[in-house]
Amino acid sequence: MLPLELNPDRLPQHVAVIMDGNGRWAAARGLPRVMGHRAGVEALKSTLRLCSDWGISSLTAYAFSTENWSRPGDEVNFLMTLFERVLQAELKALEAEQVRIRFLGDLDQLPEKLQRLIAEATACTAANCGIHFNVCTNYGGRRELVRAAQNLARRTAKGELDPDTIDENSIAAELFTAGENDPDLLIRTSGEHRISNFLLWQLAYAEIHVTDVCWPDFNAEALKTALLDFQSRNRRFGGLDPTTP
Ligand code: IPE
Ligand code: IPE
Ligand code: MG
Repeated sequence: MLPLELNPDRLPQHVAVIMDGNGRWAAARGLPRVMGHRAGVEALKSTLRLCSDWGISSLTAYAFSTENWSRPGDEVNFLMTLFERVLQAELKALEAEQVRIRFLGDLDQLPEKLQRLIAEATACTAANCGIHFNVCTNYGGRRELVRAAQNLARRTAKGELDPDTIDENSIAAELFTAGENDPDLLIRTSGEHRISNFLLWQLAYAEIHVTDVCWPDFNAEALKTALLDFQSRNRRFGGLDPTTP
């Protein structure tokens, strides 16, 4: 199952992915941008299965940012409808494959039907013991941090929390990712070298792999390349490499 070149003992536990380049993929084929989003869904389904099969514990995918609302209304509407359709169509398979799905972001701004489907999928898969699949929908890293600050401030104002006891764990516990390890590997497709407001806190020490492949073309080969790149890195976390003199 796992490609022979990969060391099973040195896999990232948590992979995060900025699924970028759907529009360019479509444009290169003379198709409307939204066809790229449709093709992107297939790439996400196969990446989830590969991660699960290869023994990765968590996959967090950036599906829609707080800034993506600034796109033309037709594209935003297409994406929201696509999320609804895919969730409806895939829920049984997710359950069968023991995937635990969660949606990270300000969900109350999403269309009501999508919110209902999200609540159903989250509840139905909550007890599943397979891969953790986090879909960042109306997610923004800065907004997530503002929300964490507000929650801590509210508790402080009520006298429930002593400001001097607020530490990194207190902030991490207020993020949408609470309870999840930080990503070890961030993959961004389509060649852009930026974070675009994704997991600003959580990516502090992630290894970053940028590939020119556009998201709809991301496949087993591209994932293997990203994992090989990860395995070639020397993670020091600010310390020194114990293997070099
Ligand atoms: C990523 O692909 C998907 C979303 C942001 C929803 P894009 O739609 O950003 O594709 P490009 O970057 O324009 O090619
Ligand atoms: C990041 O891609 C958001 C998602 C993949 C959902 P964008 O295409 O929105 O990012 P920018 O605009 O190129 O920074
Ligand atoms: Mg883009």
